[in-house]
Amino acid sequence: MKIEKCRREQFPECKELSQKYCFRNVKDKSKGFIFKPLDDQDFDSLTVASIKGVVVGFICARPITEADWDFSDRRVSGMYIGKVLVNETYRGQNIASQLVEHILEKYPSETFYTSIRYAPDRNIVSENLFGKFGFRQISKVRWNEPELGDDGEWTLFELKSFDKLPVHIVK
Ligand SMILES: CC(C)(COP(=O)(O)OP(=O)(O)OC[C@H]1O[C@@H](n2cnc3c(N)ncnc32)[C@H](O)[C@@H]1OP(=O)(O)O)[C@@H](O)C(=O)NCCC(=O)NCCS
Repeated sequence: MKIEKCRREQFPECKELSQKYCFRNVKDKSKGFIFKPLDDQDFDSLTVASIKGVVVGFICARPITEADWDFSDRRVSGMYIGKVLVNETYRGQNIASQLVEHILEKYPSETFYTSIRYAPDRNIVSENLFGKFGFRQISKVRWNEPELGDDGEWTLFELKSFDKLPVHIVK
């Protein structure tokens, strides 16, 4: 498997995957938990995992900006990790773990944050994924997105990496 910064020609494949698995509304429980599909602004922050030239997963990591403070009660700085996704066929094979590890190793002196959907459906796999790298819940955020569903309200975990670097994963 190859993990690298997204190349321009890989971006349409990534977008397609993100559309397939993004959350649509509160009634649709089948599509996964990516909050919104990738858009053009995500390109620079995108790291891709591919096998034999086929994109199997990706992760976004970018510096936190003041715009992020709108949905958080904390004014933090560091890197935000989000939109981590692996094609269903390849899940459970450590691919997301390798993507997260790649980012943590790339920016060894950064503090990392991510948010994970907690309600109406809890994203346990994602909690486990980040939990094993030392991320811990630091707050819950009520997030109102009326276009996403009936009440459109989500509760999110916000997590912070307390361990600067993960123990290297051997699998
Ligand atoms: C979350 C997601 C990216 C995980 O990808 P993956 O490549 O299958 O993850 P990994 O194989 O690296 O597993 C990571 C950890 O998650 C946990 N995990 C994996 N599959 C699990 C399952 N079916 N049930 C519970 N925990 C699970 C385990 O703790 C695992 O680590 P371990 O095997 O060392 O114990 C993938 O399920 C996905 O794309 N989901 C839809 C999109 C999404 O929810 N993204 C997260 C947004 S924040």
